[in-house]
Amino acid sequence: MREGKASYTAEGVAFYRALESSRPADERGCDDPLAGKLLGPRFRLLYRWGLSRRSALWYLERGSLSPSYWFLISRTAYIDDCLSAKIAEGIDQMVILGAGLDSRAYRFDGLHDGVKVFEVDHPDTQTVKIRRLKKALGSLPSNVTYVPVNFEREKLESKMLECGYDPHAKTHFIWEGVVTYLSEDAVDETLAFVAGSSGEGSSIVLTYTIKASVGTISKGAKWWQLAYLRKKGEPLIFFLEKDALEGFLSTRGFELVDNLSGEGLTDVYLKSTSRWKRANRYSVVALAAVQAGR
Ligand SMILES: C[S@@+](CC[C@H](N)C(=O)[O-])C[C@H]1O[C@@H](n2cnc3c(N)ncnc32)[C@H](O)[C@@H]1O
Repeated sequence: MREGKASYTAEGVAFYRALESSRPADERGCDDPLAGKLLGPRFRLLYRWGLSRRSALWYLERGSLSPSYWFLISRTAYIDDCLSAKIAEGIDQMVILGAGLDSRAYRFDGLHDGVKVFEVDHPDTQTVKIRRLKKALGSLPSNVTYVPVNFEREKLESKMLECGYDPHAKTHFIWEGVVTYLSEDAVDETLAFVAGSSGEGSSIVLTYTIKASVGTISKGAKWWQLAYLRKKGEPLIFFLEKDALEGFLSTRGFELVDNLSGEGLTDVYLKSTSRWKRANRYSVVALAAVQAGR
């Protein structure tokens, strides 16, 4: 992250969700009606102007970044489905780690019935989001607490407890598009907090990247992954292999439930025979349960 600057990648993925949500309802791969309202001036301009929106969508869905675009769209749909299932099952708290411009706290009605929501993010990103939320919603909902934390420098647990987080409550955590930007220590510390400070039946959904992705998908993706994101202060630094996830999580207090890479997501969510519409097979979304009795 660049000092004093909100996350660029948070803006980028919200732009993807906004574009996809602008399609007719029966053609959308995911549905995030708030994404367009949370964009900053540059992306908002591209999104609001019909010609640039259609051009961006055309390029993203079939150009060199299309595997990343379709992964993002299908992972959003998967994480939304997990959240709906968790709300139906009954949760006390939801924590979004590295929330960026995630709008789930505002678009899932089930969360307004007594579920406490915590949005945790880098202070520079969170300040910008809160400003945009006030503009988009008029006021901030009372069930959402904003916790500014730099995972690399601060203790997540003490910040959460100060903000009213209950370490014994059943909690669903969302850690979408974040671990790839963190050091191994920050990933470990965050997982230790989730596993050690949450109630019976808690769960986490997270996404991660397989090392082989870097520089191999296409020339455009290589430039974006290696040069552009580094320039933006958000280089990709943490990777996991898909086969290693189960062991990695089990030694940290979790039981793996789902481990879906782009191929699995394409089958379930994109349901398409188009050769363009394929989610990146090097990116993975996983669901894990906190081991009982911890
Ligand atoms: C790609 S964005 C994902 C945002 C959101 N989860 C989503 O999927 O729309 C990465 C997020 O990680 C956050 N982040 C990156 N490094 C961080 C750090 N050291 N501490 C806290 N948050 C961090 C950024 O602020 C940003 O919100």
